[in-house]
Amino acid sequence: MLGSLRLATGVAVVTTILVGVQAIPKVTRTGRYLYQEDGTRFYIKGIAYQPQGEVIDSPDNDFGEPSTYIDPLAIPAGCTRDVELFKQAKINAVRVYSVDSSANHDACMKTFSDNGIYTIIDLALPLNGSIDRTVPSWSTNLLNQYLRTIDAFSKYDNVLAYNVGNEVVRDKSTQVAPYLKAAARDLKAYLRSKNSNALVGYASINGDSTWRNALADYLTCGSEDIAIDIYGLNDYSWCGDSDFNSAYAATTRSFANYNVVAYLGEFGCNTKPPRLFTEVSAIFSGQMSDIWSGGIAFSYFPARSRAGQFAMVEISADGKTATTNADWDKLVAQYGSVTPPNVPLKAAASESTYLNCNQPTSAFLASIVTPPTPNEKACECLDDALSCQFTPYKPDTYKVAGELINSGCSLLGSAGGSCDEIGGDGQKGVYGRLSGCDPLIKASYVMSQYFEATNKNPTTCAFGGNGTINADSPAAASAAASSCIPSPSAVFVPTLDSTSPGGSTSSSNSGSGSNSGSNANGGKNGAFGGIDALVGVSRMAVVGLLSAIWTLA
Ligand SMILES: *[C@@H]1O[C@H](CO)[C@@H](O)[C@H](O)[C@H]1NC(C)=O
Ligand SMILES: *[C@@H]1O[C@H](CO)[C@@H](O)[C@H](O)[C@H]1NC(C)=O
Repeated sequence: MLGSLRLATGVAVVTTILVGVQAIPKVTRTGRYLYQEDGTRFYIKGIAYQPQGEVIDSPDNDFGEPSTYIDPLAIPAGCTRDVELFKQAKINAVRVYSVDSSANHDACMKTFSDNGIYTIIDLALPLNGSIDRTVPSWSTNLLNQYLRTIDAFSKYDNVLAYNVGNEVVRDKSTQVAPYLKAAARDLKAYLRSKNSNALVGYASINGDSTWRNALADYLTCGSEDIAIDIYGLNDYSWCGDSDFNSAYAATTRSFANYNVVAYLGEFGCNTKPPRLFTEVSAIFSGQMSDIWSGGIAFSYFPARSRAGQFAMVEISADGKTATTNADWDKLVAQYGSVTPPNVPLKAAASESTYLNCNQPTSAFLASIVTPPTPNEKACECLDDALSCQFTPYKPDTYKVAGELINSGCSLLGSAGGSCDEIGGDGQKGVYGRLSGCDPLIKASYVMSQYFEATNKNPTTCAFGGNGTINADSPAAASAAASSCIPSPSAVFVPTLDSTSPGGSTSSSNSGSGSNSGSNANGGKNGAFGGIDALVGVSRMAVVGLLSAIWTLA
């Protein structure tokens, strides 16, 4: 006994620490409500938490989306600095728009967990790390990025939800919705395979109810396996000292029968300063609490968007101090004074029912046919077999691949070929055989097809030095595609192949790192910088935009 005294003392200390901190209660969903373990309702008293990345103004960047990001959950000193303020404001959740899966998040996640703060983690990264609303795809590179992030966060007890996207769909891009639904389906299957019940969500820009509500319903139709669990509406309609009837009544009515959790993914209009945050008393009142489970105030850190500047603190140059402003004081006062109704109790809440998905309308074009699960092994099989392979051009690999796809597709088009197999059409519900492959493999496929269309004239695999002839290629590209990808519409439980390329990027010029973008009614630092290197030609997808888009990076 004596011999083990030192050890025992050590254990005792550890035990004391563990006893001293109560574990954060698990929050789960029943029907359209969130509950803590004791059966009381959980409301999100949240704040958007992401320093804004670099926003490059250009006509192509009409939403002011950042092209770089800073992962705030990888900065322990920042989390320690901010958590005291969060406690003062009774904040219980932060929404983070882009995180780096290769960074260590232990310290921040623990700091937040110990203080009762949950996280809503958006899985997208700027630029090619998100589903691009112009040239969408749900492909292995994105799937792997999302799965790596889930793996990086699954060990923490305070992840409330993972978002598959932020403001990807807008009034003119409703045909992108099938890609989001496919992402939600695959991530749910992955989480289930890891015995995780973490919620999967999406955050929508507000807009005309004809497409906004259709999208909300689309994302939750069919069955639990293919439905998001939590829907965030980024709603800036309460400006100045508004009131429930003018700001939220119509929207709340239109979500009256919603089947999963809804919350305001962002709120905090800044067009009638000062920001009073009086909407908080409405959001957490009985007028809204039956439909909405709280919301996320935008934004803790300074964030500029088309709608102007948002901020509640100023961070000192050395990062040590956060100086709060008047907006913050208002938010603290409002969050501090609300007590949302604790009804219905968990025992009385109904489970969700999932309606059949609606056929598209003129306001909401999305097909009910969703893209397949991206198949890494099948795509790699094809890559190995191709006759003209893209030789990754560093550092702008994805940017160059996008350019090669563009130029290769137009060459192929003039040689009588087509890029249909690499593209997809969410309105028609038609997805090319390679639609789920990484853009780098798509580039090789296009290059190979062109090379073969010119009888393998060596100069046609040059592509300015970006192509390498594969003398061992066993078959023509299209035959290889049929044999490697025999079931192009297959849906299955994805796995994360640790050898898969990628890795999250952190910072830096060009395509990597970066902050999330999006958000519309003001860019804010939301997460969606969707810009992908994937373009089909002809009827399948848009071509020609890519180079313009890539100048953003
Ligand atoms: C590869 O492609 C890029 C983009 O088209 C081009 O700038 C570059 O010159 C090409 N060639 C080489 C050798 O990198
Ligand atoms: C985006 O591009 C960067 C740089 O080319 C690359 O490292 C990263 O893997 C890409 N991410 C995805 C999801 O394609």
